[in-house]
Amino acid sequence: MNKVTLAEGINWVGVVDWNIRDFHGYVTKRGSTYNAYLIRDEKTALVDTVKHAFSNELLRNICEIVDPEKIDYIIVNHVEMDHSSSLPVIAKYAKNAIMIASARGKDAIIEHYGADFNIQTVKTGDELKLGKRTLQFVEAPMLHWPDSMFTYVVEDKILMPNDAFGQHLASSERFDDEVDANVLMEEATIYYANILMPFAPLIARKIEEVTKMGIPIAMIAPSHGIIWRSDPSKIIKAYSDWSANVSKNKVVIVYDSMWGSTDKMARAIAEGAASQGVDVKLLKLRAANRTEAMTEILYAKGVIVGSPTLNNGMFPTLGSFLTYATGLKPKGKLWGFFGSYGWGGGAVRGMTEMAQKAGFEVHETSIEVKYVPEEDDLKKCFEFGQQIAAKIKT
Ligand code: FEO
Repeated sequence: MNKVTLAEGINWVGVVDWNIRDFHGYVTKRGSTYNAYLIRDEKTALVDTVKHAFSNELLRNICEIVDPEKIDYIIVNHVEMDHSSSLPVIAKYAKNAIMIASARGKDAIIEHYGADFNIQTVKTGDELKLGKRTLQFVEAPMLHWPDSMFTYVVEDKILMPNDAFGQHLASSERFDDEVDANVLMEEATIYYANILMPFAPLIARKIEEVTKMGIPIAMIAPSHGIIWRSDPSKIIKAYSDWSANVSKNKVVIVYDSMWGSTDKMARAIAEGAASQGVDVKLLKLRAANRTEAMTEILYAKGVIVGSPTLNNGMFPTLGSFLTYATGLKPKGKLWGFFGSYGWGGGAVRGMTEMAQKAGFEVHETSIEVKYVPEEDDLKKCFEFGQQIAAKIKT
């Protein structure tokens, strides 16, 4: 492995997962990485591990730099298995290491891997001296799990925030100044929209808390993807905007179609919305996936969802999409629903109920067409798009 150095004595020892395309339901079109960092001082610390399938690669990367027996601490920022499932293997080789985790992290380690570890808990503000270097810990519950915490290398001003500020982006390069900036921001945006969106208020508070702590940040080394070293403020600003729900005059239409009727309706609605001068994106769920849809929705003020009725309910692709979307809790969007049916209907009613149950703001009317839309129906669809676009426009 080419040694990747963040600062003298601090190395990336993670792995690249080039082939992962489904990360618990999130379509990771460019793969991912599981980043782990080795910090050598009078004491040696390993920050995070990797997914179990890559344990040997992590071990090899560590061995190229230091004998694992010399590891004094394994910092467990987060117990989700993409970062912790190598712990049992690494702990066997790093047999002198003490694990450092939040209190909830300690519980989660035991619940995942048993109690046969020496685990020390830390809380926000606690420090661990490695020699000349100091590690400081900041608890970050729900970013991404209750156990999550950030590790800050005080003297080098490097923040290791685990999942926060990451991207699912496999690359042979490790730093932001070595990769295409547009691809990097695109993947950071997709990642936020599909993982961290539900935690927007917590993110806003955490950014404020870290800012108040006055800790200077020269580099952000997340647990997935590329390390932000040229301008870490760029991703902090993006997170501030996303968590504040900065959005545009934009309508996203997400739909599926069985025999083309809902498709015709979607296109007429799109034309109506576009006639109001807002940005419109039309996504059919068998051409685009839910990961793309949520990324488009991140900046949208209006979301219009359409489904044909199948067996008295919504089409399965819409069931999947709405389950995903309601779980991600996008804030401040106006939702509208439309669809076609043959006899009893049910798709529009089912979708509307799901959105209302999730607490979404739902447009007062919906639109349904029996069998195939005629000119008059398409005119109504156009007007439906117009109404929603007019309502969200600022
Ligand atoms: Fe990358 Fe929440 O694990």
